[in-house]
Amino acid sequence: MNTYATVVLAAGKGTRMRSTLSKLLHPLAGQPLLAHVLKSVETIPSTAAFASLRASLTASRPIVVLGHKAEQVLEAFGDRCLYARQEEQLGTGHAVLAAQDAVDALDPLPETVLVCYGDTPLVRSEILAQVLAEHSARQATITFLTATADTSSDYGRVVRDSHGQVREIVEVKRATPEQLSITEVNSGVYCFDRAWLWKSLTALPRNAAGEYYLTDLIAVAGAQERAIATVQGSFDESLGVNNRVQLAEAEQIMRRRILEQHMYAGVTIIDPATTYIDSDVQIASDTVLLPNTIITGKTTIGSWCRIGPGTTIDQSTIGDRCVIRNSALEETVLEDEVSMGPFSHCRPGAHLARGVRMGNFGEIKNSYVGEGSDVHHFSYLGDATVGDHVNIGAGTITSNYNGLTKQKYRTTIGSGAFIGCDSVLIPPVTIGDHAMTGASSLVNKDIPAHTLAYGVPARVARTLPTATDEDAVAPELGKQE
Ligand code: UD1
Ligand code: CA
Repeated sequence: MNTYATVVLAAGKGTRMRSTLSKLLHPLAGQPLLAHVLKSVETIPSTAAFASLRASLTASRPIVVLGHKAEQVLEAFGDRCLYARQEEQLGTGHAVLAAQDAVDALDPLPETVLVCYGDTPLVRSEILAQVLAEHSARQATITFLTATADTSSDYGRVVRDSHGQVREIVEVKRATPEQLSITEVNSGVYCFDRAWLWKSLTALPRNAAGEYYLTDLIAVAGAQERAIATVQGSFDESLGVNNRVQLAEAEQIMRRRILEQHMYAGVTIIDPATTYIDSDVQIASDTVLLPNTIITGKTTIGSWCRIGPGTTIDQSTIGDRCVIRNSALEETVLEDEVSMGPFSHCRPGAHLARGVRMGNFGEIKNSYVGEGSDVHHFSYLGDATVGDHVNIGAGTITSNYNGLTKQKYRTTIGSGAFIGCDSVLIPPVTIGDHAMTGASSLVNKDIPAHTLAYGVPARVARTLPTATDEDAVAPELGKQE
């Protein structure tokens, strides 16, 4: 075996999900079901089992068989895969045959076809590689993955003869009571000899259910005395998602796996039961996650951070040594040593530079806050650019939305500026470097650098010395720590 093609079946109706969304797009740990399968398929070449294969295997992009709600799947995965179409959903065997042209168009022509189902998201690359390796070692016509399930499961039963040879796979609907008591089940991962696969699928008759089952090929190969090999995997890896109960089971297993990966990689998770981390999240070692913390999307977190309790972080980048307590962050960048909360909210486009401190009940949106700046309690910064070492007093508001023109304007605050408590900044407005506003100022005009302005509306009262001793310069400002 020198090359293999991978075919992932994703055309089924998914009726048991009772959803208008394609079953394969239902999220599991923040990624569509199908994405988990594709990731496992794509990472086969980096596994230990694959390395042990003597032949050099080359694989193209996986071929995904689309049918029901094909457009939704196409939109989600684009050119990550190659695609084949199954116009009518006549069963898993029929679906694989729909991929024949796509497989046969590959150069070099693969000897082996690896088939996976798009609804088994927990299958890992290592076990897929083991199925390939076993198939190669045994020079089998079919090699498939099995698991042990309890007798009430809805998986196809693996029927063996008295010598332990596989004879057939029987689907639950057609199984006799005796066959139903078999606990070895079909996980839905197969390697086939390509030439044999096309010949046999083309000749396969419709079964009693009126469909073409891929599993019926086992009996065909058995009758021809062909080599059929199996690999035994864990039940978890084989879990198929047909309904939302199984979706929740898969979610639990996947989440536990993700938490364990992080813990083994050096992240402390105080309470795994209340910590949720999506599969795309990266966290560096020595970071501590406190209870009730939910980290989703493509989020990256540095080392020695302390996050939580009660914190949600989505699609964000967090540097090293940050402390985030009881806060919510979306599409936010925190550089190193930012401290936040409790009860802060960073909305999309918030970027807090190194050492920023954000107090409780603050909100920042689409704004940059420079190094070492303080954004004190009860503040709102929207569409603002704030320089380094700025003090934003408690209750400061950028009034960025003009209700009359429906436009949003920017506020710019220079480095070293001091915005007194309860200031309302009405943009477009620029406050110069080291300028100051008095408490309760309404700032609707630019304030030049090194000047003090206050009042409603704020007007420049005087120029400030360039010394940085705030207390000496403006005792009347009522700085609040
Ligand atoms: C299938 C297996 C069963 C196995 C189980 C493992 C068959 C006949 N049965 O049952 O032995 O234990 O998976 O999870 O294969 N699909 C198509 N086109 C179709 C029908 C299905 O692309 O016409 C796709 C589905 O989108 C799905 C996969 O094939 O991703 C499996 O189909 P499904 O109906 O879920 O099969 P199961 O009943 O779970
Ligand atoms: Ca299934």
